Amino acid sequence: MAATQTHSETKRRTSTRKAAPDAIKLLKDDHRQVEEWFEAFEKTNSGSKKQKLADDICLALKVHTQIEEEIFYPACREAGLEEDLMDEADVEHDGAKKLIAEIEAGKPGDDHWDAKVKVLSEMIKHHVKEEEQRDGMFAKAKKKADLDLDALGEEMQARKADLMKQKKNGG
Ligand SMILES: [Fe+2]
Ligand SMILES: [Fe+2]
Repeated sequence: MAATQTHSETKRRTSTRKAAPDAIKLLKDDHRQVEEWFEAFEKTNSGSKKQKLADDICLALKVHTQIEEEIFYPACREAGLEEDLMDEADVEHDGAKKLIAEIEAGKPGDDHWDAKVKVLSEMIKHHVKEEEQRDGMFAKAKKKADLDLDALGEEMQARKADLMKQKKNGG
């Protein structure tokens, strides 16, 4: 009977658990989604599909970098993550944003437009590695007892939803 009780207890806990993922899970899920879109971009020759994928990638990356910059990175700095690591991440975000603006200003068929998307995917791949690799930013953040990753996840999820709405409406 003990096993049955454990099972129902687990089910109850799962169903009442709050919807937001922890901060690291939320950010990693974003990374996986964008990687999928970059792969699809590589594989298609359709201009309209490329445009749609580029739109989705640019929107997702703008929102993702913003919630990291507003919420996650400052919390990491406050918890004592190395400044040079965090500074590098900021600079990489700035580089990505410049390319995103150029991609958004252009369209499929424009000179160098595909190359810009390709280079953006390489920049993001490098940046994601810095965040996710062994002993990278996320691993270091997990070791900081001061960082409440659940609370940060909840905060970022709410902010992400707001920004998605805002930016989809051209804000
Ligand atoms: Fe990230
Ligand atoms: Fe980042």
